[in-house]
Amino acid sequence: MTLRLEGRVAVVTGAGAGLGRAHALLLAKQGAKVVVNDLGSTMDGKGENMAAADRVVDEIRDAGGEAVANYDSVATKEGGEAIVAAALHAFGRIDVLVNNAGILRDKSFAKTNLDDFRAVFDVHYWGGVFCTRAAWNPMLEQGYGRVIFTTSVAGTSGNFGQANYGSAKEGLLGLMRTLAIEGAKKNVLVNAVSPGARSRMTENLGIPEDYLAMLDPAHVSPAVAYLASEACADTGVIVTAAAGGFGRLHYFESQGVQFDPHGPASVEQVADAWGRITAFEGMKPSEFGASGRTQDRLATLKRPAG
Ligand code: NAI
Repeated sequence: MTLRLEGRVAVVTGAGAGLGRAHALLLAKQGAKVVVNDLGSTMDGKGENMAAADRVVDEIRDAGGEAVANYDSVATKEGGEAIVAAALHAFGRIDVLVNNAGILRDKSFAKTNLDDFRAVFDVHYWGGVFCTRAAWNPMLEQGYGRVIFTTSVAGTSGNFGQANYGSAKEGLLGLMRTLAIEGAKKNVLVNAVSPGARSRMTENLGIPEDYLAMLDPAHVSPAVAYLASEACADTGVIVTAAAGGFGRLHYFESQGVQFDPHGPASVEQVADAWGRITAFEGMKPSEFGASGRTQDRLATLKRPAG
């Protein structure tokens, strides 16, 4: 099981700058042929500039790698299909899809404009759906695929002013979890990276310069290149990656409380047990399964008391 990507074809969306550029450069260095997709928009998704993707293609070629540019928008069904078609046309297959393209339209929910909300979903959430849908059947048919979504702490933890962005990013995790189940038998693995990196998205957030200096996007890309490789056997995992630090983010359910399953608990019972329902204290790491503890809790009813 190799980490190298020779013979593999990768598509990176939004690869004309920031994180996408760094991912594309590393995937090419690892031996993949790369489709550098980027329509070259402003940070809020306005305008187009083909030079963004072209520059990264030039960088990859100058370093001895293989790449082609694509300027379609991820935000439409036709765009997603055209992006994947670019890989099939130029290189005959698609093995890796890195869903990375993104825009920002930050506003508190009280002030948000619903057109902005939709635009953010169009790029992040629907962009992920459209590109992955186009790549999915070719991957299933060849019995190999690696899909990587880009989520954010704004989704997994929330962030003031990012209701649109955070919910689109969280939506991608819901998509990831089901695709991980559906793709597993055909060796199509679906994971997510939650990055932290210096880019135009983070440049003006007041992050101190000495910290920004450690947030090179290239520090995130090794996680993406690993998830893109044959060596990776995991699916449905969220990897955090920033400034040389890597971790796993996972949702789990507390042990909770079991009432009589034959009738509804009273509101007072729920209120009285709230502390125990919501507590994680005392749980061992081996108990940190994914959510879905109903069976475990029912089993406690069959155990003798004490
Ligand atoms: P960036 O703004 O430098 O890069 C995004 C790229 O996507 C741009 O080159 C842009 O032209 C392209 N793009 C925008 N709309 C597109 C569309 N419809 N079709 C194709 N390309 C499009 O930003 P950055 O920081 O590199 O972000 C990359 C991804 O990482 C985004 O999904 C972002 O939400 C995510 N992210 C970034 C974090 C960070 O710390 N920089 C933190 C968490 C998530």
